[in-house]
Amino acid sequence: MRTSLEWRKYYEQNANALLNIPWDIGAELTDDERSAIAASVQGFQAGESSEGRHLYRYAGKYAQETGDHDYLAAIKLFIGEEQRHARDLARFLQLNDIPTIQTTFADRVFRTLRHVLGGLEISISVLITAEIIAKVYYRALQQATNSVVLHTLCDQILRDELRHVEFQAEQLGKLRWRRKRTFLWFTMGMHRFLFWGTCIVVWHDHRKAFQRGGFNFRRFWRSCWGEFNEAFAISDRAIASMAVPAAAAAFVSHIEAMLNRGS
Ligand SMILES: [Fe+2]
Ligand SMILES: [Fe+2]
Repeated sequence: MRTSLEWRKYYEQNANALLNIPWDIGAELTDDERSAIAASVQGFQAGESSEGRHLYRYAGKYAQETGDHDYLAAIKLFIGEEQRHARDLARFLQLNDIPTIQTTFADRVFRTLRHVLGGLEISISVLITAEIIAKVYYRALQQATNSVVLHTLCDQILRDELRHVEFQAEQLGKLRWRRKRTFLWFTMGMHRFLFWGTCIVVWHDHRKAFQRGGFNFRRFWRSCWGEFNEAFAISDRAIASMAVPAAAAAFVSHIEAMLNRGS
């Protein structure tokens, strides 16, 4: 598990190692490709373009409470990456004469969930749900057209999202490691339910793009749940790596107390 300082350094390095997107190629989409992906990319572009104000505020509160100020710095850089995704997707849409949109129904539901329920854990839980599905979506979108610009852009976003999911999963582990096992199961049950519903909505809204990229419903469903299980295995490892030193420290202080009583 990486520390917040390591994550901050990762984001700083990543900003200097971006792929060169060949924007000069210009518009490439055929009519068929455009009708399969335009509305879908518009929706994802809107979803990526959150300002992250609430997340930043929650992270600031967490940094104050724990003294983990590198986490706040890492979150700021993470939000910057999401804004870059939104900017690049908007540029791709403009290049192909497709207008951007402000929001979608699914996007509004997601933002409401994050803001109404509030808190860092909820915010990250909702965020990681979208990012896990994004890892499948951009794989499909990459294969959906012959556009070199879109192919490279998806490559860049997939590289970033791989790390984003790890970053959020580890942070969820850090936030949840003290939780009682039964409550942890309940939390994961709720999260699975949220993920299940989100997958249904995403398939309903974006199936044309997924199908064009070679994903039928079965492949989509299996890929999403595969990514979900991988993400929460990371979270479980984070919980274990937090819990083992704490248990060892508790054991040592227990022994010390016994020895003190004996002397
Ligand atoms: Fe993103
Ligand atoms: Fe992301």
